[in-house]
Amino acid sequence: MAEASQCGDDQHDWSVWGPTAAGTEALGRICFRCGKFQRSDLADAATNVPGEGIASYRGFVGPQERYDIVSAMTFNLLTTLGLRQHHRVLDIGCGSLRNGRLLVPYLNAGNYVGFEPNRWLVEAGIRHEMGKDLVDIKKPKFVHSTSPTDLDASLRFDYAFAQAIFIHSPLDLVRAWITRAAQVLESNGVLLASFHVGEEDYTGDGWVYPGHVYFRLDTMQREATNAGFRFQTLSWRHPSGLAWAVFSQRDFDTSWFADGEVTWNKKVDIDPSYRSWPVGRPWI
Ligand SMILES: C[S@@+](CC[C@H](N)C(=O)[O-])C[C@H]1O[C@@H](n2cnc3c(N)ncnc32)[C@H](O)[C@@H]1O
Repeated sequence: MAEASQCGDDQHDWSVWGPTAAGTEALGRICFRCGKFQRSDLADAATNVPGEGIASYRGFVGPQERYDIVSAMTFNLLTTLGLRQHHRVLDIGCGSLRNGRLLVPYLNAGNYVGFEPNRWLVEAGIRHEMGKDLVDIKKPKFVHSTSPTDLDASLRFDYAFAQAIFIHSPLDLVRAWITRAAQVLESNGVLLASFHVGEEDYTGDGWVYPGHVYFRLDTMQREATNAGFRFQTLSWRHPSGLAWAVFSQRDFDTSWFADGEVTWNKKVDIDPSYRSWPVGRPWI
């Protein structure tokens, strides 16, 4: 991460002002280059100067006190849904490697691709969460862009996930990511996405950060169907109250969680490759 001192007052690369949280009028923005943030509700009334601080590489992607919980949630979901070491994974908006720091050691070398516009976040994640040795051993790849079309369409993945990406995305970006995922996933592949379910669709333009946006469940389902995916919500708790959904390609097996309940035990029972004891012999 660039140090704050590297950005002079007129050199910041500011995000647009966006709502900071549901139910508050406060606006916030962040410098993508140095991590400095400003919040309108912390403004000094006399000078009207926004309150500001330096966002850490952890704080930039969500509440710092639950950085570990989000890592665990995502890794456990992916592995419960069948992620194995030989699979190839696309981490859409990988941020500071909150999820990558568990996935990269787990996967075989070369099988992790992180897509992230903010290069400094990935660099900070490597420096503080992963280490250069692991990068040398497991050879994760990174793509730095905002546009899904910059992800090489000839790449092939078994799993893709977008954790806390569609809560900041306008509908055209959601659609672009779902479309790209459908193009790069194998016929037995799957996209997992977390998002906010609301009664109305967000209709604005552009990336909203650090504020959140909401979409109707019908809208997500329609976008999935239009891209050729099947769609299934999951009862997999998210610490920030987001919903999780599976966008599955034709041959990905969803039969064992038609009710949305995914558990490790169900997966082991349904998949003989997950166990050594014979079919039909009950576990203790
Ligand atoms: C809330 S953070 C989530 C990061 C990560 N998925 C996680 O769970 O830790 C959102 C991330 O999306 C990235 N982002 C911004 N624009 C994006 C785009 N057009 N496509 C994908 N990711 C984007 C941000 O830089 C940020 O790292």
